[in-house]
Amino acid sequence: MISLSINGTKQKLDIDPNLPLLWAIRDVLSLTGTKYGCGKGLCGACTVWLEGHPVRSCSIPVAAAIGSEVTTIEGLSDNNTHPLQVAWHEHKVPQCGYCQSGQIMQAAALLKDNAQPSEEEIEQAMSGNLCRCGTYPRIKKAIASAANHIHSEK
Ligand code: FES
Ligand code: FES
Repeated sequence: MISLSINGTKQKLDIDPNLPLLWAIRDVLSLTGTKYGCGKGLCGACTVWLEGHPVRSCSIPVAAAIGSEVTTIEGLSDNNTHPLQVAWHEHKVPQCGYCQSGQIMQAAALLKDNAQPSEEEIEQAMSGNLCRCGTYPRIKKAIASAANHIHSEK
């Protein structure tokens, strides 16, 4: 049995510790907001947090998450009210939507550590998250808008 903490809930799972974390999240726990894109750590669609840091869940085994808090898009906020989720909605960011939970988890990690990122910092932080629909300009606008919101709330 493997014990994991996901979105604040302790889970006991009867799974192979070498199973990629993404499979445990999607197929075992049915948290399907996190997506499978490339399976090779190259696209960012599977991004979740491990102890608040963004990781590619397709590329790390479940064993690496034992003893750490895993946060998926479902655990980012209550009722989709994280400033990024609000900004994503306002700026109508998604097209097909497939990459977007990974984009948001990556962006949320950035804003957690740097609430006022420059354009360059946003670009750098988001450079590993691919979007086949080319929503990059809207993603950047939404991150800047969420950062302004967070700043004005302080
Ligand atoms: S599915 Fe994990 S990085 Fe592409
Ligand atoms: S919105 Fe379609 S892949 Fe990003």
